[in-house]
Amino acid sequence: LDDGAELVSVLHDRMRDLLVGVVGGTEGTTAGVIRLRSLAARGLLSYPIVAIKDAVTNQLFESRHGTGQSAMDGIVRATNVLLAGMPIVVAGYGWIGKGIAMRARGLGAQVTVCEVAPVAALEACMDGFRVLPMKDAATEGQVFITATGSACVIGAEHFAVMRDNALVANAGHYDVEIDVAALARSAVARRPVRELVEEFELADGRRIQLFAGGRIVNLAAGEGHPAAIMDMSFAHQCLSVAFLVARAGHLDATVLSVPKEIDQQVAALKLKSLGVRIDELTEEQKRYLATWSDGA
Ligand SMILES: NC(=O)c1ccc[n+]([C@@H]2O[C@H](COP(=O)([O-])OP(=O)(O)OC[C@H]3O[C@@H](n4cnc5c(N)ncnc54)[C@H](O)[C@@H]3O)[C@@H](O)[C@H]2O)c1
Repeated sequence: LDDGAELVSVLHDRMRDLLVGVVGGTEGTTAGVIRLRSLAARGLLSYPIVAIKDAVTNQLFESRHGTGQSAMDGIVRATNVLLAGMPIVVAGYGWIGKGIAMRARGLGAQVTVCEVAPVAALEACMDGFRVLPMKDAATEGQVFITATGSACVIGAEHFAVMRDNALVANAGHYDVEIDVAALARSAVARRPVRELVEEFELADGRRIQLFAGGRIVNLAAGEGHPAAIMDMSFAHQCLSVAFLVARAGHLDATVLSVPKEIDQQVAALKLKSLGVRIDELTEEQKRYLATWSDGA
């Protein structure tokens, strides 16, 4: 069971002798899946791995609601920032960015989204967010949160135009989304201003606040996802491991999506735990949905 392809990287790199007999694995986060797909594309992946983050129930709930809530919680706890009316820039409108943008807006912030993918940018637009390239958003935001899975999303050209006291934080898995080295290079002085916030003073007197050294905000400052979200993630891990074991030796060494039945099963179990009941299709409805001519 991996999160960020840390274990897989070590196994494939330094401890290859332990690869013998591994039936399969699971990966919990987008950043890890990106690495695994790259390994698989080169024909180097040694065993099948189920991408938990591809599960619909994972994206909708852990990524969107878990990270959305815990990232904002982490920022507020560590900075005491007032979010009402605050111009916040969210980089990336995947499930993580969507959750953060949604919660920030719910707390009264004025949210701008930066994207590189047209569909995601259009979705942000139609969800009612302002969409701007980062170099324009950089001049307007006061709080910046990266959630792209990419690197150097906020860099020297952005620090150069940011407002005084802008706060930059990262919710992506790795601490590479904010170019901290570039910030350090452009600073004439730096000092800690809170337990998890370091202030960088630039030559023109403006100050940039860096959150947790660019490390993942909700783990650095918050408590991670609520247990009521992680229960579904662990259910996915557990059911996916059972799936892999039942098919041991019959699956290709590639990155697999979580089977739809597991997604449905996890959602059904969660509904049961919440005491939420739903309707079932009647036999007549099933028959109707299976025909191509009725009602035409
Ligand atoms: N904080 C947490 O608890 C937590 C939880 C799960 C995942 N993550 C991490 O968050 C990151 C995002 O995850 P996701 O599932 O939303 O990924 P995703 O791939 O679904 O979405 C990322 C979005 O960022 C956009 N993007 C990429 N580069 C960009 C750039 N330079 N500028 C603007 N937008 C850019 C992409 O077009 C995409 O729409 C990953 O690193 C993931 O591992 C964090």
